[in-house]
Amino acid sequence: MNDLMTGSAHLDEKGENLIIIDQTLLPNRRVLLTINTAEALYEAIASLRVRGAPAIGIAAAYGIYVVSRAWEKESYASFCDKFGRTKEYINSSRPTAVNLSAALDRMEQVVLNNGRVEPVQLLPLLKAEAEKIHSEDIEMCRAISEYGLTLVKDGDGILTHCNAGPLATSKYGTGLGTLFLGRERGYEFHVWCDETRPLLQGARLTAYELYNAGIDVTLICDNMASYFMKQGKINAVFVGCDRVAANGDTANKIGTSGAAVLAKYYGIPFYVFCPSSTIDFSCVTGADISIEFRSPDEIKTMFFKEPSAPEGVKCCNPAFDVTDGELITAIVTERGVCRPPYEKSLYEMFKK
Ligand code: MRU
Repeated sequence: MNDLMTGSAHLDEKGENLIIIDQTLLPNRRVLLTINTAEALYEAIASLRVRGAPAIGIAAAYGIYVVSRAWEKESYASFCDKFGRTKEYINSSRPTAVNLSAALDRMEQVVLNNGRVEPVQLLPLLKAEAEKIHSEDIEMCRAISEYGLTLVKDGDGILTHCNAGPLATSKYGTGLGTLFLGRERGYEFHVWCDETRPLLQGARLTAYELYNAGIDVTLICDNMASYFMKQGKINAVFVGCDRVAANGDTANKIGTSGAAVLAKYYGIPFYVFCPSSTIDFSCVTGADISIEFRSPDEIKTMFFKEPSAPEGVKCCNPAFDVTDGELITAIVTERGVCRPPYEKSLYEMFKK
């Protein structure tokens, strides 16, 4: 396994700082950032220096631990108060991926469950919880990838959207994990990687990860998927997810829903790769999922030498969409492959 196969968020050797790969600079520069304040963590998540649902959760967990080290001499009440306010602040950096709030809730629970100990004794418990969130993700990605391999065969053409690889998680990835694991076992997939406008996670990150792993990958624009599907080049679509509702409706990077509609039309299986940390049973349907809207500059100016549209033109930039559960062939989790109806299969796999 090369070093690109490991995820982007971890603690430094002394356990004092959060280290992330600045994903906004990829694929041209691989720069590590050192983070030890809540403001820097907020900025890194909001500006997608660290991104991808599981990676955001892992970074937030390590990050709040690192930040809380400054309060070790305070009373429990003061520690608790600062922790709660910092948690809310970091949680407000991005709304759609449930992994962010879920990881922060787990960290806060450690504080709330240990009211009888001094803050200095809380810190190792917080560090251990963050490490647990991280190691659980590694295990989940590996198990998801194993299940994914049961759904495809050697030589298949796979369409990907956005980035659900090691950069977005901890190791292997969710949506890309099957491709990396398959590669290790001698499978030859051909991957059609779409750019993923407007922030180009497909071009900048997925193509980078797959190409460096020696996987046969061809970059296409988002609007070319139908062309290649019609040609019979695509045998399955693989995507990750940011929040899955109890009925299987799935929020993921904008454009995912369109790819699912096309796949249905052409009779191509559409698979969502989903660690249980991304399922939110409190959302009954996709309508309960909050969608992040981002700056129009990401569409009009960010990746162009000159603006690509008239300066004053109206522009709307939803960062995610919701794919209806009925368009999803299967949701691949670390416990197995869920099939429709998802109200039943997700419930039976994770709630029973
Ligand atoms: O805005 P991003 O880049 O954080 O969006 C990420 C995605 O939509 C990914 O597909 C999703 O988080 C799955 S990551 C395993």
